[in-house]
Amino acid sequence: MGKESNHYYFYSAVQGNLDYYIIGGTTLKDIVTNYTYLTGRTPLPQKWTLGYQQSRWGYSACQEEVQAIADNLAKYDLPCDAIHFDIDYMDGYRVFTWDKDKYQGNPKKFITKLNQQGLKVIPIIDPGVKQDSDYHIYAEGLKKGYFVKSADGDVYINKVWPGNAAFPDFGRPEVRQWWANNGKFLTDLGVAGIWIDMNEPSTFEGPIPDDVVFNDQDTPSTHKKMHNVYGHNMAKATYTGLKEQTGNRPFVITRAAYAGTQKYSTVWTGDNRSMWPHIQMMIPQLCNLGLSGFSFTGTDIGGFASDTTSELLTRWIEGAIFSPLLRNHAELGTRQQEPWVFGEPTLNIYRKYLKLRYRLIPYLYDLFAKETKTGLPIMRPVVLNYDQDPRVRDLNDEYMVGDDILVAPVVQKSQFKRLVYLPAGNWVDFWNGAEYAGNQDIVVDTPLDKLPLFVKQNTILPWGPLLATLAMSR
Ligand code: GLC
Repeated sequence: MGKESNHYYFYSAVQGNLDYYIIGGTTLKDIVTNYTYLTGRTPLPQKWTLGYQQSRWGYSACQEEVQAIADNLAKYDLPCDAIHFDIDYMDGYRVFTWDKDKYQGNPKKFITKLNQQGLKVIPIIDPGVKQDSDYHIYAEGLKKGYFVKSADGDVYINKVWPGNAAFPDFGRPEVRQWWANNGKFLTDLGVAGIWIDMNEPSTFEGPIPDDVVFNDQDTPSTHKKMHNVYGHNMAKATYTGLKEQTGNRPFVITRAAYAGTQKYSTVWTGDNRSMWPHIQMMIPQLCNLGLSGFSFTGTDIGGFASDTTSELLTRWIEGAIFSPLLRNHAELGTRQQEPWVFGEPTLNIYRKYLKLRYRLIPYLYDLFAKETKTGLPIMRPVVLNYDQDPRVRDLNDEYMVGDDILVAPVVQKSQFKRLVYLPAGNWVDFWNGAEYAGNQDIVVDTPLDKLPLFVKQNTILPWGPLLATLAMSR
C-alpha cells in the first residue's frame, strides 16, 4: 500500500473487474459491524467448542494411543472437550473412510466411549480424492463428473496425501451437496465436527495450472478465478452436511477461507512453528482476522512444526488462553507437546490456565452472542476499543477480550518483567486486585506462571462452574 505514491492507493485485478465495496462508519467498531453486515457473521457456536481441544498428527493411527491421551487428560485433571483425528484414521488417506483395523473393527464404539468420557471427536477431511477405481467416492465422483478438469477435458490429477488424487469442483451446488451428503458417513459414527484442510487447494507436484476448469456455480470458470474461494466453498459444503445430519450448530475448522467463510467455519492459522517469532505473530494474526470478520480463530498452541520447549509451550497456553479456538496441535515426528510431557511446573501452569478458561466460558459465550449481532470479535486489538488513542494503533503485543479484559502475554524468551500499556479508564490487576489509572505504561513481573491480565474497573465478570468438560452444555 502506498508504494507507488503517498497521494493515492489503487487496487487492480489480474483478470476481470473488481467490485468495490466502501464500508463506512465513524468508529472502527462501526466499520467492522458494517463489514460483517455485508459478509456475514459467525453464528453462535455450540458451547463445548469453546473448550480445550487436544490434537497431534499421528495419534489417530492407533486407538490405544488416542485412549492414552484421553486417560491422561483425565488423570492430570485437565479440562478438555475434544480430540482431533488427523489423516491417519483413514484407510490409505481415502476421505470418508475409517481404517477399522486400527480401531478394533468398530470406530463407532470407540467414539461413543470417548463421548462418554466427555470428549468429542473431530476428524480431518481433505479435498483430494484418491484416484482408485475401487474406491466408491472416487468412482462416484468420476461417473457424475464432479472433479475439476484439465483444459483438454480429462479429470485433473495431482498428488496429495493419498498419492494421485482428483479435486471436487466445490463451486458447483450439486458437488457441494454431494460432499455434504458424504459427511453422513462420519456423523453416523458420532463425530461432532469436521476439520477441513489442504483446501487452498494444496498439491505436492506443483500448483494447479491456471487454466484447469473449475465451475463458478454452474458456469465454467478457471482455477485462476476460483482458487481463492475453493476453501470457502468446501467449508460451506461441510457446514451444510453437518447441519442437515446432526441438527446442531455446525463446528467446522478450515485452513483456507475467504471473506464470508466465518458464516460456516472457524479458522486456524495453519502450520506455524515452535519458535518465539510465531507466538509473537499469534496476537496480530488473530486480531487482524477478528477485524476481518473472523471471530472464531486460533493457532496451533505449542507450535506445529519443529520441537517445542517447556517455556514456549507454557507461554503459548497462557497467551492463547482467550483465543476462541483453543487447540494444541503438532506435526508428526516432532517432540510430544501434551500438557504433561514436560512434567512440572509446565503441567501445573497449563492446568491453571485451562481452569481459568473454563471459569470464563460464560464471558466468552456471551461475547459470541453479542458478536452475532455486531460482528465484533471476541479477541481484539486494543485499538478496536480505543480508536482515538494513538498509543495503541500499532500495539502488537497486547489484546483485549471483549471490552473489559486486557491481556498482555509474554511472547519473548526468558522475559520475567514486561511493560504493559493501559488505555484510558481504571484497571484492576486480575491476580491481586491492585488498581491502576489508565493512559500509562506500567511494569509488571512475569514469572513463568503469570499471564498479565487487567479487568476494567466495575466490570461484572461472570465466573462459571469448574467443569472437566462442557459436553452437556450446548
Ligand atoms: C497440514 C495441516 C496440519 C495437519 C497435516 C496432516 O499440514 O495444516 O494441521 O496436521 O496437514 O494432515
